[in-house]
Amino acid sequence: MLGFHTLQRVVQEIRADVASARDRDPAARGVGTAEILMNWGGVQAILTHRVAHALHESGVPFSYASRAVTGVEIHPAASIGADLFIDHGSGVVIGETAEIGDRVTLYQGVTLGGTGFARGKRHPTVEDDVTVGSGAKLLGPITVGHCAKVGANTVVIQDVPPNSTVVGNPGHPVRVEGRTVEGPDADWIHLPDPVADAIKALAERIGQLERRLGELDGNSAEGEVKELRPKQGPSSAGG
Ligand SMILES: CC(C)(COP(=O)(O)OP(=O)(O)OC[C@H]1O[C@@H](n2cnc3c(N)ncnc32)[C@H](O)[C@@H]1OP(=O)(O)O)[C@@H](O)C(=O)NCCC(=O)NCCS
Repeated sequence: MLGFHTLQRVVQEIRADVASARDRDPAARGVGTAEILMNWGGVQAILTHRVAHALHESGVPFSYASRAVTGVEIHPAASIGADLFIDHGSGVVIGETAEIGDRVTLYQGVTLGGTGFARGKRHPTVEDDVTVGSGAKLLGPITVGHCAKVGANTVVIQDVPPNSTVVGNPGHPVRVEGRTVEGPDADWIHLPDPVADAIKALAERIGQLERRLGELDGNSAEGEVKELRPKQGPSSAGG
């Protein structure tokens, strides 16, 4: 049941959330608690969620109260750790089965959403000390490992390793443990071009056939089709 201890816990959590805003938002440095509570939409949203979650756990229905005021929609059943900071807030959506660890930072427009109509665990788990850039979409029951950074506007549909930086759509790691990712999929600018490879192979084959025909005709002239050479200059992908 909802009691004194729940209230005490909620007050402690709210105090920690205000402290996180001061730590992680340069604009909040030196700003008083009352001013942060009145003006920081992300803090208001977390505050409302702490109360909504406590009520939800006690069986009292209380849904989406903060959405109209802050533009942040956190399902009351979502599990959120200590020191969450939502910067600016607007457009943030956190689904029912999402789990967020401690000291996580979310910027505006972040979605922790599901991918379909499945029931059960269908929203992301975000571990401790993760930062998620503005507009990023984290979809499905994936896990974002501790201390990972998700770039602005990234679409994440697979697990993210701890201590990594993930960017792009689909999101892919560009740094793991501070090092550039190596391997065949690491260069997303100069991608393989199977169509150009097939045309090159055909041109070579036609060249061979024309040479062979020329020999049979007693005419050693080179064929019309020239072999393709690797194209110089900037990549068509703009890289
Ligand atoms: C991803 C981010 C956290 C930087 O993390 P980082 O570990 O310091 O990574 P780096 O800056 O070294 O970037 C790593 C690579 O990803 C690229 N990159 C960084 N952010 C990117 C993004 N959002 N989308 C696509 N590529 C991105 C960089 O150009 C770099 O490419 P390179 O390997 O070819 O040099 C940061 O770029 C970001 O997106 N932060 C969110 C900020 C935000 O939402 N602010 C809102 C304030 S209101």
